[in-house]
Amino acid sequence: MELVKSPSAFLFLPSKWWPVILFWLGFSAVVFTALTFNPGMMILRHPSSSSSSMPLLDASEEPSLGRLADRIWALFCSRSSHSHPGYFSTTVTEKSSDTSSRDKRKHVNVKEDSEGKVMITCDLYTGKWVEDDTYPLYRSDSCPFVDKKFNCQQNGRPDIKYTRWRWAPRDCMLSRFSGMTMLETLRGKRLAFVGDSLNRNQWESMLCMLRESLANKSRIARQNGSNRILKFLDYNCTVEFYKSRYLVDMKEGSGDTNYTIRLDTMDKSEVKWRGANIIIFNTAHWWGPGKLGKGENCFQEGDKVHAQLDVMIAYKRALCTWAQWVDGHVDPHETRVFFRTYSPQHFRGGRWNSGGHCEGETEPANDEFDLPTYPNEMRALEEVLGMMKVRVHVLDIMKLSAYRKDAHPSVYWHPQQLNVQQQDCGHWCLPGVPDTWNELLYHSTTLAP
Ligand SMILES: *[C@@H]1O[C@H](CO)[C@@H](O)[C@H](O)[C@H]1NC(C)=O
Ligand SMILES: *[C@@H]1O[C@H](CO)[C@@H](O)[C@H](O)[C@H]1NC(C)=O
Ligand SMILES: *[C@@H]1O[C@H](CO)[C@@H](O)[C@H](O)[C@H]1NC(C)=O
Ligand SMILES: *[C@@H]1O[C@H](CO)[C@@H](O)[C@H](O)[C@H]1NC(C)=O
Repeated sequence: MELVKSPSAFLFLPSKWWPVILFWLGFSAVVFTALTFNPGMMILRHPSSSSSSMPLLDASEEPSLGRLADRIWALFCSRSSHSHPGYFSTTVTEKSSDTSSRDKRKHVNVKEDSEGKVMITCDLYTGKWVEDDTYPLYRSDSCPFVDKKFNCQQNGRPDIKYTRWRWAPRDCMLSRFSGMTMLETLRGKRLAFVGDSLNRNQWESMLCMLRESLANKSRIARQNGSNRILKFLDYNCTVEFYKSRYLVDMKEGSGDTNYTIRLDTMDKSEVKWRGANIIIFNTAHWWGPGKLGKGENCFQEGDKVHAQLDVMIAYKRALCTWAQWVDGHVDPHETRVFFRTYSPQHFRGGRWNSGGHCEGETEPANDEFDLPTYPNEMRALEEVLGMMKVRVHVLDIMKLSAYRKDAHPSVYWHPQQLNVQQQDCGHWCLPGVPDTWNELLYHSTTLAP
């Protein structure tokens, strides 16, 4: 039976099509309304027009598809996000509805091959830690790139077992890191880590793991005199680190905690990492209440400094700015973008600045029950990623790292361990957990391109 020959035939479509048609009519109406009337919401500015105070969409301008996309972004980004205080809690709590949230993240394992066919691959992030004497992959005293404060052994940490664990995904094998294969993959390319000191932790680990595979370990040089851009001479590739605590722009005031975060403007250093072939972003811990309190006078959009803005709403807006930057400036054929998820902390009995400690832990937790609660930062990230055009690979290390309460520097971030006032239960000893993050990165870049 031939149905669609003339417009009137439309009316004879099978009734099961009607919901679809009605849905599209409704959807078009909503989009039309959004374009026509400004619903009085806060509209985010596009990162590239940061300095002007012109709203993203001027009513006098012609709508276009690009503008429509921007408008949808803006509506999405300005929607408030539900949050509650205490999201940095690392205390043990009951398993809640978080499980469903975790399950939703399975989408990160859906991959497309070159012809656009969808392949479901193994979930690398569910599994367990197993003892393996062939680890660590390098020795801390042999690697010049390990920061003093991550070099636990040199600072006197007596136990070594925490370096002898391998992450074993439940449903597949994680291939062992090969520095040579990684360097071949990186030949002529730039690998950049952009984020806070936890990304620096991971960057140093990557340098050590790659260096280990060189026959002549002196074939690494600083590029342009920078300590943070290292070039592997025989592979013409650079491994770079850019400090960007918030990914968005920050106007420093006096003192370490007196600054404004410009939620609608990408970090000005973006010109330096733009064009790198693999970029690993992160941002999370600097959004904690210990740093930003209740969000008073620290967030700026356009010329306006908010007297008070919920920190999680601000976090999501900053992620939106980052996401729009990625969508606008990243050529997916040239650059692969990763976002490394929240790195768990293990302070007992307080926070980093109020006597929290993790000293004396020598074994990973073996019960999922002991894992920290699912942070709101992760929910915000999921929402924003869901809106993006450029595909972002999620390096979802949160859960696997949460087991590793034994792997932080604790007092061994300093050679005079006995005198330290504060323990470090946030960063990781090297060699250690960030090596595993890099094995996962290796897996995603070399084996599952
Ligand atoms: C080294 O890599 C850069 C890109 O990072 C490329 O422009 C340049 O041509 C390469 N040089 C050689 C000698 O291959
Ligand atoms: C290793 O590389 C350095 C720097 O390029 C060079 O000076 C040195 O001669 C090399 N050593 C060997 C054994 O090839
Ligand atoms: C190093 O400096 C040169 C010239 O000053 C510049 O063109 C190049 O982009 C710089 N490389 C990096 C990786 O910053
Ligand atoms: C923070 O910095 C601003 C601008 O530099 C200055 O006016 C203000 O007094 C500073 N506040 C504190 C508490 O230091």
